[in-house]
Amino acid sequence: MVTNTLRGWLTETSTGFGRHYKVFHALEKELIKNPKGSLDCLVVGPGLELHHANPVKKPNGEWALVEKASSSKRYINSYQVFELANAARNAGIEDYYITALDINPDVLDEMRKRPALIRFYRDFWEKCHHIHASLEEMDEMQQYFESFFRSNTLYAEGGERIVEIPDDVLSRVHLHEGDILADELPPESYDIVVCTVVLSHYSRECTHGVDHVPEVMEKLCNAVKPGGFHINSELVFPGDWEHIAYSPGRSTTMHQQYAHMMQKG
Ligand SMILES: C[S@@+](CC[C@H](N)C(=O)[O-])C[C@H]1O[C@@H](n2cnc3c(N)ncnc32)[C@H](O)[C@@H]1O
Repeated sequence: MVTNTLRGWLTETSTGFGRHYKVFHALEKELIKNPKGSLDCLVVGPGLELHHANPVKKPNGEWALVEKASSSKRYINSYQVFELANAARNAGIEDYYITALDINPDVLDEMRKRPALIRFYRDFWEKCHHIHASLEEMDEMQQYFESFFRSNTLYAEGGERIVEIPDDVLSRVHLHEGDILADELPPESYDIVVCTVVLSHYSRECTHGVDHVPEVMEKLCNAVKPGGFHINSELVFPGDWEHIAYSPGRSTTMHQQYAHMMQKG
């Protein structure tokens, strides 16, 4: 059972790089405060479906996601695995392993692409993701944005950054095709379990009546070692999911999302 909720944050954002910056930032601080020699981590459902979309400012000043040429396919859109790796590295932990578990083989194929490039936009992140932040938070977000594989930045201009994920990080990521509903997870095996915007696919509203969220949550919590962390988001919204069909054009306004980091007692 997960006890001792350390923090719960309202990020009020949609999907994309950095929307969980507060939890990953907090995780980094926790790892610095209570150093661990090594980390075994699990990220469930890392994939993101915005493969072809790029943020573009419309004449009315709003931001929208616009389909782009296929060249954008070469950018990896699975962020949490690498935000987690970045937190471990920033905390000085070199010995970490991350299992990325996804039901969709295309997601795993995307993560096999080399070079492993991630592209993100500060403007998009700030404006499209509805992060209504204080100046202090903006400053923190900026630092987070810049700290993401700082020394591996290939390009940075006008708020856009392209980062190449280094080979030593990639070698620590194990890709696993699996189904979090059907598969068992080894009990008390992971120091960190991350699962964001996956369970909402299985809430009552999306499955037409059967709520799988409690059973999957229990499975995820059981997989965390005592003293380990569980990061999740999405549990508080009731399931607009099927109505919006995860369409990029609408996802930015569709829900408020809490991101939590909990520590297992
Ligand atoms: C909406 S995306 C969320 C991506 C990312 N976690 C995020 O927060 O942006 C949902 C991801 O969960 C994966 N997924 C859906 N059902 C799953 C299941 N039963 N087992 C494992 N992965 C699943 C999808 O393939 C997809 O990669």
